[in-house]
Amino acid sequence: MYSVLDYGQMAACGVRMDAYKRAIAGAVKPGSIVVDIGAGTGILSLLAVRAGARRVHAIEPNPAVWLIPELAAENGCADRIEVHPTTSFEVELPERADVVISDLRGSLSLHGDHLATLRDAKERLLKPGGTLMPMRDRLFVAAVDGRAMTATFERSAEGFLEHGFSARAAQSLFRHTVLGDWSSKIHASDVLTTAAPWATIEYGAAPPRLDEEVELTTTRLGTADGLALWFEATIADGIVFDTAPGMALVYSRTFLPFVEPLRLDEGDRLRVTLRADERGTRWAWDTHHLNAAGATKVRFRQSTFLGMPTSPSALLRASSSHAPSRSPRGDRVQQILNLMDGDHSVDEITEALRASSPASMTRDALLEEVREAVERYAR
Ligand SMILES: C[S@@+](CC[C@H](N)C(=O)[O-])C[C@H]1O[C@@H](n2cnc3c(N)ncnc32)[C@H](O)[C@@H]1O
Repeated sequence: MYSVLDYGQMAACGVRMDAYKRAIAGAVKPGSIVVDIGAGTGILSLLAVRAGARRVHAIEPNPAVWLIPELAAENGCADRIEVHPTTSFEVELPERADVVISDLRGSLSLHGDHLATLRDAKERLLKPGGTLMPMRDRLFVAAVDGRAMTATFERSAEGFLEHGFSARAAQSLFRHTVLGDWSSKIHASDVLTTAAPWATIEYGAAPPRLDEEVELTTTRLGTADGLALWFEATIADGIVFDTAPGMALVYSRTFLPFVEPLRLDEGDRLRVTLRADERGTRWAWDTHHLNAAGATKVRFRQSTFLGMPTSPSALLRASSSHAPSRSPRGDRVQQILNLMDGDHSVDEITEALRASSPASMTRDALLEEVREAVERYAR
């Protein structure tokens, strides 16, 4: 969960803020109704008010949202921003918006419910013909010298080696892991190939195609350790920024390591087939390294699936034909949900739970489960 400081850093990201500021000033007219999804501490809501919005509905489940009324009062516009402390999926608004603003990305646009949120917002919260912001993201990929990133793998193995243990079983999984370049930035000078557009996300539209082959041509000789992915954002027509290696923005790049470093010689090409789910949790990347004459140097297949140890029973549980039955914890959650009827207090629900739970469960532990369920499922 983001802290208030995190939101401050987002508001301090000059390139991003400049793009959103210009797009909001262009789309929001005096009297407009605006919805700000994932408002955080409300920087985009305040910009919408400045552009003339009559009312801004600021939607955000993070408790940081309660700073918005204070900040709005400080800035003389408390009467124009209405806070909704929940997710956009749960909110029912009294009016549809002329403009829906958001930035729900992580290091990439494929981030949790992001795409589903904007499809739902277009359908339920935006006026027909209204403006959805951002408009589109294009995702790019290039092969990079990622020594700074792969050093993480060595450091992770050293933890075992220093204590006299080998760690081969774990090490073989490291390179099927997707990393963000938060601390060791991938620089522009690390890019060794052409950059190829891999996917286009039209926000509010049908799910994008996230299974494409790209061809990357060597532009600088060197050793490629993996693929860097970034996005080019179109916030509104003509208002574009990107997060390519070398760009200092609040977003990081995504790094997909190769099984082994690839020495790129003159004329070498990489054919990469990249697949992901739209939540950005599952990735698969197949790499085919060819020389200038088109002969195969090496090819390999990687995926986040191969990066997690699994067992036959875990695979069965993940299958869509599996018929699950509730665990004791599931029984408790069901009991809590049944008692969340507007009549029972949190204390009463906890007491009811105590009566049917093993004595080893402390009251505090049960109270925590009730609070979690309230946070998640209560109105
Ligand atoms: C990257 S922050 C953006 C904060 C602020 N709008 C900005 O641009 O600086 C994204 C926020 O979206 C919120 N969020 C994600 N999905 C949401 C949804 N469906 N409804 C409301 N908020 C959501 C997260 O809690 C997070 O605070």
